Amino acid sequence: MNQKLSFGEPFIESRYLEAEESFDVTNSAILVNLDKEQDIMINKEFALGALKALEVHDVTISVPGKALLIVGADTIQLNDRITMKSLCDVWKSNYQLTGLPQHKNSPYFKSPKETLGNVAVNFCLVADPDAPSGIHKEHADPHVQELHVQIVGEGAVDLMKSQNPDSRYASLPLTAGSTHMATWNKEGEYPWHRYRSVTPCIFMGVEIH
Ligand SMILES: [Fe+2]
Repeated sequence: MNQKLSFGEPFIESRYLEAEESFDVTNSAILVNLDKEQDIMINKEFALGALKALEVHDVTISVPGKALLIVGADTIQLNDRITMKSLCDVWKSNYQLTGLPQHKNSPYFKSPKETLGNVAVNFCLVADPDAPSGIHKEHADPHVQELHVQIVGEGAVDLMKSQNPDSRYASLPLTAGSTHMATWNKEGEYPWHRYRSVTPCIFMGVEIH
């Protein structure tokens, strides 16, 4: 299966691949392996492991499980005011989504969510540098496996001792095209954690149910 997705439009083109024996990627793209177990083979010689991401350019991939291809994100200039304004106009601010007073001036803006079987993805613009999300350890689905794939700019996932913003004890750095190691344990429990922008950036949230 090879399906174009609309959730990032008109800014970011994305494509869902499932059980594709041979697929040619002609442009630069971020390839995300959404499968929990199976590797993706790149040019028949490099294996991209489960729940990992990387940048590819002009390759042939073999996808036994599920994958996302994010195309054209490398052309997005977040220091361009017109680009930033149109992203903020089209995607919904945290305040528009929740109505909570603490989200009033939040720099987080989210694209629609796309559901692909047991996987849900969306893009999130963080319009300011060094802007942390809320610190949390529970998710709406207590068994969810949550990843952040960096699409534009730089960010990090911080692990925290408590809900106190000064209690950070580890950071998983994210540059464009990368994701982080699992932050859940064998029981599926998470430490207190948050996403944090380093530069103005776009990441893709991935929830695997
Ligand atoms: Fe989370």
